[in-house]
Amino acid sequence: MTCLGMDVGHSSVKLSWRCPDGKVVKLMIPSVVIPAMRITDKTAADTALDDTVDVAGNTYFIGNTALHEVGNLRVSGLHDRWLDMKEFRALVQGAIDKVTRNAGKIERIVTGLPASTFHEQQLKMRNIVSACLDTQIRVLPEPNGIYLQHMIGLEGGVRKDRVVNAGIVAIGRYTTDFMALLDGRWVEGVAGSCSGMSRAANLLLKQLKNEGLDVDYLDADDALWKREIRNYGKTVDVSRDADRALSILGSEIFDSASARFGDVGRKLEKIFVGGGGADLLIGELTEYWPQAELVEDPRFAVAEGFRRLGESL
Ligand SMILES: Nc1ncnc2c1ncn2[C@@H]1O[C@H](COP(=O)(O)OP(=O)(O)OP(=O)(O)O)[C@@H](O)[C@H]1O
Ligand SMILES: [Mg+2]
Repeated sequence: MTCLGMDVGHSSVKLSWRCPDGKVVKLMIPSVVIPAMRITDKTAADTALDDTVDVAGNTYFIGNTALHEVGNLRVSGLHDRWLDMKEFRALVQGAIDKVTRNAGKIERIVTGLPASTFHEQQLKMRNIVSACLDTQIRVLPEPNGIYLQHMIGLEGGVRKDRVVNAGIVAIGRYTTDFMALLDGRWVEGVAGSCSGMSRAANLLLKQLKNEGLDVDYLDADDALWKREIRNYGKTVDVSRDADRALSILGSEIFDSASARFGDVGRKLEKIFVGGGGADLLIGELTEYWPQAELVEDPRFAVAEGFRRLGESL
């Protein structure tokens, strides 16, 4: 029985499932969707086949093929109505098709939504997934996935030494989500969100422009990691500006999360930090929260936690 953990993010879809041979596989698909076009090169056309999806009579390219064809990141989902778009459906359908080709029948899908939109959109999300595949579906707030990865072992079974008073901080591209759990139960009213990594990338972009370096958003996001940019053949060290941008984002995350955690904050034994931005921000966050802890494989933690839950149900 294949259980799929699926985390549909604004920068990429993260998938985790167990192959027929028992190995856990993780796959990331860039969240880029474009109308399909004819590709004349035979090899490229064959590769594109795996990234081609039909939705309600329209054909789309998703993932790396779409990224390659548009030559840049065309982000479709920077607004609340992302779920209503055919492109979103194409992304979900394409992701499920890829897993089906590898794993055969999918018995259950566990997927999520940001904590801030969970209540209004969970039914919609469930309907989108069930339109793609007739299977059992669970929809949970995304930060739950990070906790589930901690709570359930790789091969299943609840860990006896799990932390029951925990905060979760999930740092994605556009949003950082937080939630908290006391005595093993989610605390209502604590969930919230604030800016994600794009905030730091935009701060860095602005600063570099002030310094006369003409970069685009993706260069700036990349520079947060590489700490340098290439400009007319020269390598420019931007580590000071990158650190400053990350430090501003770190303090904003701490402020927003602390305001939400309120009194619950001092009871949290651990604060688990996951999401694609976790590696870069953990240093900053441990200065505010000594109990902050980087989770295993942070960018995939939500999808992996969802997979573990799916196999335990
Ligand atoms: N190998 C990588 N390639 C690109 N970005 C990376 C990589 N590793 C980490 N990142 C960072 O991960 C961030 C995206 O994180 P993540 O995949 O968790 O976001 P998301 O789930 O797509 O977005 P959101 O949760 O806001 O919808 C990027 O902004 C980037 O800074
Ligand atoms: Mg995310």
